[in-house]
Amino acid sequence: MNPLLSKLQPYPFERLRQLVADVTPHPGYTPISLGIGEPKHATPAFIQQTLADALGTGLASYPATGGDPALREACASWLQARYGVRVNPATQVLPVLGTREALFALAQTVIDPTRPGATVVCPNPFYQIYEGAALLAGATPHYVASDPARNFAPRWDQVPDEVWARTQLVYVCSPGNPTGAVMPLDEWKMLFELSDRHGFVIASDECYSEIYFRADAPLGGLEAAAKLGRDDFRRLIMLTSLSKRSNVPGMRSGFVAGDASLIKPFLLYRTYHGSAMSPAVQAASAAAWGDEAHVIENRRLYREKFERVTPMLEQVMDVRLPDAAFYLWAGVPEAWNSSDTQFARELLAQYNVAVLPGSYLAREVGGHNPGRGRVRMALVADTAECVEAAERIVQFIRSK
Ligand SMILES: Cc1ncc(COP(=O)(O)O)c(C=O)c1O
Repeated sequence: MNPLLSKLQPYPFERLRQLVADVTPHPGYTPISLGIGEPKHATPAFIQQTLADALGTGLASYPATGGDPALREACASWLQARYGVRVNPATQVLPVLGTREALFALAQTVIDPTRPGATVVCPNPFYQIYEGAALLAGATPHYVASDPARNFAPRWDQVPDEVWARTQLVYVCSPGNPTGAVMPLDEWKMLFELSDRHGFVIASDECYSEIYFRADAPLGGLEAAAKLGRDDFRRLIMLTSLSKRSNVPGMRSGFVAGDASLIKPFLLYRTYHGSAMSPAVQAASAAAWGDEAHVIENRRLYREKFERVTPMLEQVMDVRLPDAAFYLWAGVPEAWNSSDTQFARELLAQYNVAVLPGSYLAREVGGHNPGRGRVRMALVADTAECVEAAERIVQFIRSK
């Protein structure tokens, strides 16, 4: 067996399942899960219809790994409309089967494990795939704690120079899971300068970019590069997805864009890995990237929900409206003595509401787990259910 497999950590949802295995949720309440970040709003009918229509011809041949030109052009047009950046659809765009597999595969393409001390830098807390991708590529993750005092910005400035010197890949998550924070231009500038100095690749995970709560849409990695005069997007790849934007997590569709000299070997890797997108999914994806009306409506639903729920929880917890994404990253009140796991267990037992302990989304470094004392609540269910969950949480905390 591949010995690196034994380095993988149990997935947070598996840890949550074990944590509550002996808990009997209060039977007087219907179960509400804020634990898993899976979009639950309805899939737009036109996407379903385009997919169904394309089945007639779409299943009879092997698709090309590089995707149809029509899809790549739809992705490039979206990038231009959304971020004002121009990419060459033939050389700077590649369809992927959702960002999860692409985040993983990119590490396998980029990392040279024969170079001593191969390191992947990622935020802490973080989306768990970054760590698994690094480990299976033969690299060691270096975790950068996010700073609650600075809108949860990862402390890139605290990474020692000797770590940057052996870093081959940096994962950026903006908007962040679980914090919802958007990375500002000055942080991008710092990372680009470090990348120029040390030669590492930046993978910018932007799959929550269309769900936001401020007037301005979140800054994207390619957009930041273009603003700083880096039009070749050197050593930068952005990854995005239809899962959250268009409520199609089951369609497995996204794309990557950026540095053509990275896209080329990535395509080669993917050809061998066998990551080509079904032609029917490609047709539905091109239609989805070409429509904004459903995205605006989707965002409206999230905004309405967060406007209702956040003020309720603000009364009893350290929580506020995030920049973007669909999570509340809430501090556990003092009565639980920073135990996010105990909070999650008691809330489930007494009010049948599931939340994810923040410590499961982070790693302990130097005796400190930056997720400890927080819980992640995914506001993915409809507004009424999320409001009901918030009412129960308020009652739960007040009655402690
Ligand atoms: C930060 C982050 N990146 C990537 C993904 C993967 O999404 P998908 O593979 O559906 O694009 C998720 C899913 O929850 C996520 O939270």
